[in-house]
Amino acid sequence: MINERMQKEINEQINAEFWSGYLYLSMSAWFTQHNLPGFANWMYIQYQEEFTHGMKMYRYIHERGGEVTLKPIAKVDTNWKDGVAIFKQTLEHERKVTSLINKLMDTAHEIRDYATINFLNWYVDEQVEEEANAEELLGKLQMIGKDTAALYNLDKELSARVFVDSTLSAEE
Ligand code: FEO
Repeated sequence: MINERMQKEINEQINAEFWSGYLYLSMSAWFTQHNLPGFANWMYIQYQEEFTHGMKMYRYIHERGGEVTLKPIAKVDTNWKDGVAIFKQTLEHERKVTSLINKLMDTAHEIRDYATINFLNWYVDEQVEEEANAEELLGKLQMIGKDTAALYNLDKELSARVFVDSTLSAEE
């Protein structure tokens, strides 16, 4: 049976993961409306990934005999100045998510919930990748500046990204 405090905090994180997905879906819509389908594709995949991050926690709570409590999803931004502004927000947001995962880990250590420590390790690794991806694309966009040909090429490159459910590891 999962500890009540741990359960409450994981339920809050499910909401944060779904909110992240909602934010990235909104960003994907913005890119579609600004004729950048490759960036829209990349953000749409981010949205799908966030949903799986939330669902992995959802399944975990049930596996531990707990209760999932879904909370309302708060509103997200819908307009940005440009792609750089979007990726600045993405990087800032992912850094925040990393700190939320670290807080969950602190609780798990405090209450000696070894199963949850083990479970959260996946998210610790995932956040390293999430921050690196956002940082890389922000850097590329800043380098591109007003070079529309380079932007076109990067957009084309991003259209090749496909969704892979990375939460489904061998043991699941
Ligand atoms: Fe669920 Fe983008 O981390």
